Amino acid sequence: MTARRLIVAITGATGAVYGVRALQLLREQQVQTHLLLSDAALLTLQQELQLKRREVEKLADVCHAVRDVGACIASGSYLSDGMLIAPCSMRSLAAIAHGLSDNLITRAADVCLKERRRLVLMVRETPFNLAHLRNMTAVTEMGGVIFPPLPAFYQHPQSLEEMVDHSLLRVLDLFGLPMQNAPRWAGLKASLNSSDASA
Ligand SMILES: Cc1cc2nc3c(=O)[nH]c(=O)nc-3n(C[C@H](O)[C@H](O)[C@H](O)COP(=O)(O)O)c2cc1C
Repeated sequence: MTARRLIVAITGATGAVYGVRALQLLREQQVQTHLLLSDAALLTLQQELQLKRREVEKLADVCHAVRDVGACIASGSYLSDGMLIAPCSMRSLAAIAHGLSDNLITRAADVCLKERRRLVLMVRETPFNLAHLRNMTAVTEMGGVIFPPLPAFYQHPQSLEEMVDHSLLRVLDLFGLPMQNAPRWAGLKASLNSSDASA
């Protein structure tokens, strides 16, 4: 495999924008994407972003049906740089934590864990119950990364887009895909100097 290749799944937690924006950023970096949309994700994409399946699928290189457990990404022999689930619902988290492989999203995640490939779950729920917390612990113990999309305020984001991009910058770093020209923390002194300059 020469080009970078990432599996991206969007599940039915709120925050569909994270998955959509991840696809746009990966395309900018010329990373090949394999996209999976759960049935519930189709609801949140419509409700939150007024996007239909085909409009989201246009952002990916390869699209798979969520029930197609015979697809290439269901096998560890098909190479990839890992998988991002953005956002990740508590249902999908639970299925992954317990190795259910009950659809192509949870099967592809299972493959990443067994092949020791990077798996990042942008889990989203609030507050968490004990099952959620235990499932996050289980995935962490198996080598997955739990990355809730919690906004950071230290760089004074001016828009929702900046907040989303800041979380995704950190996610893409985990795949060794640093975003070019993205604002990065350069220390408190630099931060204070730049706010003095703009005052
Ligand atoms: C508008 C909307 C928002 C939702 N937000 C969340 C959420 O933030 N976290 C979550 O775990 N489930 C959320 N759900 C419920 C999931 O969609 C539901 O549990 C679904 O079965 C998840 O299936 P999936 O993992 O196959 O996408 C939401 C549902 C809707 C319709």
